Amino acid sequence: MESRFYVTTPIYYVNARPHLGHAYTTIVADIAQRYHQTRGQETFFLTGTDEHGDKLAQAAQKEGLTPREYVDKMSAAFRNLWPSLSIEPDRFIRTTDPDHIKVVQMVLQKLFDMGEIYFAQYEGLYCFGCERFILERELVNGKCPDHDRAPELLSESNYFFRMGKYRDWLVKHVSENPGFIRPQRYANEVLGFLREPLEDLCISRPKSRLAWGIELPFDKNFVTYVWFDALLNYVTALGYPDGEAFSRFWPVAQHVVAKDILKPHGIYWPIMCKAAGIPLYNHLNVHGYWNISETKMSKSLGNVVEPLAMAEKYGVDAFRYFLAREMSFGLDASFSEEAIVNRVNADLANDLGNLFMRVLTMAHKYRDGVVPECDCSSEDTMAWDLSGEAKTAVAQYLAAMEDFSFHKAMTAAFEFVSGMNRYVDITAPWTLAKDKSSRIPLDAVLYNLMEGLRMTAAMLYPVMPETARVMVEHLGLSSESLLGGGDDPLAWGTLPAGTCIKKAVALFPRIDPEKALPPQEPEKKGPAVPIKPEITYQDFEKLDLRVATVVAAEAIPKAKKILKLTLDLGEPRTVVAGIALSYKPEELVGKKVVVLANLAPAKLMGITSQGMVLAAVDEEGARLLALDRPAPEGTPVK
Ligand code: ME8
Ligand code: MG
Repeated sequence: MESRFYVTTPIYYVNARPHLGHAYTTIVADIAQRYHQTRGQETFFLTGTDEHGDKLAQAAQKEGLTPREYVDKMSAAFRNLWPSLSIEPDRFIRTTDPDHIKVVQMVLQKLFDMGEIYFAQYEGLYCFGCERFILERELVNGKCPDHDRAPELLSESNYFFRMGKYRDWLVKHVSENPGFIRPQRYANEVLGFLREPLEDLCISRPKSRLAWGIELPFDKNFVTYVWFDALLNYVTALGYPDGEAFSRFWPVAQHVVAKDILKPHGIYWPIMCKAAGIPLYNHLNVHGYWNISETKMSKSLGNVVEPLAMAEKYGVDAFRYFLAREMSFGLDASFSEEAIVNRVNADLANDLGNLFMRVLTMAHKYRDGVVPECDCSSEDTMAWDLSGEAKTAVAQYLAAMEDFSFHKAMTAAFEFVSGMNRYVDITAPWTLAKDKSSRIPLDAVLYNLMEGLRMTAAMLYPVMPETARVMVEHLGLSSESLLGGGDDPLAWGTLPAGTCIKKAVALFPRIDPEKALPPQEPEKKGPAVPIKPEITYQDFEKLDLRVATVVAAEAIPKAKKILKLTLDLGEPRTVVAGIALSYKPEELVGKKVVVLANLAPAKLMGITSQGMVLAAVDEEGARLLALDRPAPEGTPVK
């Protein structure tokens, strides 16, 4: 196994506030870093913000700030969020940092001097959303599929990086190094892109069009393309080219990204490294997208999930666990608060929380809160090898963690938790306690359970650091025991007999879904009575609607549903209205109503009705239309 570990997240664009997607990637990187620490490795964890380019310049302008003021403000929103999610990066890099600008210019100059960058006139379709030239074959119905807008024809002189000639080399590298890009589906996707010809990459933007960027060291009329700038952050952070951290950590580099930025990381970046003489990264770990109840998360849909709000509502550890457990790394996953509540209640409150409570309570009740001596030979008498189950779980856990399959690692840990719950039920320590002659098996059972809980804490630590600390501290150990400094925390049998444990606590209170979840809004399927076929304004103008006052109202014998109304609408009218079930005659007198005044007269129950009173009507009854402020009788309604 390597003795060091270097993990990076994408550096996020600061034109929007951090959301669930950013939190997921960064939490995953934090989990990986903590896991490698428990393996006793030296680690470096990098995250940061991407601050140049058109999008940022435009966003700043919209807020009336200079680009610098804008990026300072927005970058801080990311930097300040991470500690609240128990994310502990070693460096937070910004592409506006002076050391980064220096590295970008140095690499540009180097590639330019080597002849890997050339100047040319180019006419092509430019997508302002992607901030790049886009090829005809990438369009869907003439539009950029990512931004749903048509690109513009742009003719410009620019600098190009000779990327195309590296195609065959990259195909060979990706094919011959399984795991270089993982899961394999994304390696296949990259090989798919590479089946098409690979164009050279336009790496400059004229300052006349975009000034907010890193200036080309060999031509001050241009800034560099935002991706060329951004990707280099991964080496800047380690002090490339001759920083000490660079030589120690770059050989074990692993990137984490979502599938949206597979192409720059799977194609541009390895080729940039190859051309500049930088060794390639070890692994590109690519995950899928979080959708919100099956739909894409987007600002315009108003369904963007605020990670801090979720962590505050459900707890940081529960939120981290949910994210790690719910998404199969590599595939898309669906986010909903209902799913969080289900996970927390089933796995954390029920399986883990109850087990922890039961075991510690029994240890106090039967052994005065002291870890008993475990006589291993007595285990054989019980036909149940809990230590063997633990070893199986740990083996699965380790393989999954090495592979960035966090969901599988958590499944393995929680299968072991379920195994311990069954072990309690079947060994029934409370009956063993009654039978004085079986004192040794009870010691073994309690020891095994406490040791099992300690190992569970060690497996959960990368995902739920605070919970793991509480668990081991209650088992009488220090939180350092979770890290790989001394005994391997994942080896069975390191909990010393004689350790005093603390009183049991509820690790995760059950969440009441009624209280936690927003009330379900009934799905709107349109009005109960369908809308009638369309009419023109001319059709509408034929209706003569007027304000009228009810002067008199009377019931009609033998007609339960109708009332005879006398109205004043500048002239007297008699109108029959089907509102008798909803109004008593006396409540109507004096009311201002709206009347259809030019309806052809009709005879109803022997009365000639000269118009119609307007009301909202359904099975609940009638509600007369009223004016929200007074108007004289006869006023037209339009
Ligand atoms: O692309 N589900 O920045 P960006 C999961 N600056 N992860 C998501 C997500 C979702 N719905 N939405 C975003 C950029 N992400 C460049 C990167 S790197 C040298 C430059 C996460 O702000 C995921 O990690 O658009 C994705 O790759 C990243 O945010 C894109 O962040
Ligand atoms: Mg993006």
